[in-house]
Amino acid sequence: MSDQLPPARPHLKFTEDGRRVREVLSYARRGSRFTPTQQEAWDAHHERWVIPDDAVDVPGFSLAEWFGRQAPVVVEIGSGVGEATAALAAARPACDVLAFEVWRPGIATTLGLLAEAGADNVRLISIDAVWALEHLFAPGSVEEVWTFFPDPWPKKRHHKRRLVSSAFAGLVASRLRPGGLWRLATDWGQYAEQMQVVLDGEPGLEGGPTERWADRPLTRFERKGLAAGRAIVDLTYRAVPSAPSVTSGP
Ligand SMILES: C[S@@+](CC[C@H](N)C(=O)[O-])C[C@H]1O[C@@H](n2cnc3c(N)ncnc32)[C@H](O)[C@@H]1O
Repeated sequence: MSDQLPPARPHLKFTEDGRRVREVLSYARRGSRFTPTQQEAWDAHHERWVIPDDAVDVPGFSLAEWFGRQAPVVVEIGSGVGEATAALAAARPACDVLAFEVWRPGIATTLGLLAEAGADNVRLISIDAVWALEHLFAPGSVEEVWTFFPDPWPKKRHHKRRLVSSAFAGLVASRLRPGGLWRLATDWGQYAEQMQVVLDGEPGLEGGPTERWADRPLTRFERKGLAAGRAIVDLTYRAVPSAPSVTSGP
């Protein structure tokens, strides 16, 4: 990043007369209180795995420095309690996994799972992944993006909050390296259809619904969806080499 003033992250944007700018975000602010187990995991492990939110505001922010090495980077968006994060990262020691989760109790639970799995190649951060993908990553710099069970925002008036939109698909396509993968899963039929329409319409991506990714562990969300009789849809899209870039670099 340059030495200029960094762009304001969501929740930090104000109008000239000091009012907070209303933003359409893909998440709702949920409770931030920890259970005793989460507090214990946080106290024991946050310094090892969590990147403080405001670290990204410091000019010269470097992911490689936070990981302590230069390796292919996988971005997980909405890691929840980290069931997939811990298992998938532990099985891929050659990659670094940056997991975005704005719900802090989820981050705290993830810390316990990372400690159990011994996954040193993960960093967690509690800021908006959409903002981060645009501002912290150069075009073509991401190995894979994982989006498992994004909030479905089922009410029609909330559909605009769904993470997978045309604009976001263009951004992901631009940040993936040519040939890099965007793996998605949802238990929400209508959202799966929307994802497919949106992603098929993005010239920088090719792919579609796939077999369930065998490596992906069964999470609480997936179990809940199955128990409610919902079908799980996995989609995998590949960044097309030399795709036209929709979004400019940081
Ligand atoms: C339905 S949960 C799924 C969690 C997990 N992937 C799983 O399969 O169990 C979706 C999560 O994404 C997070 N989330 C949604 N939009 C986000 C964003 N833009 N940046 C960071 N986290 C986000 C929410 O806080 C929520 O915890």
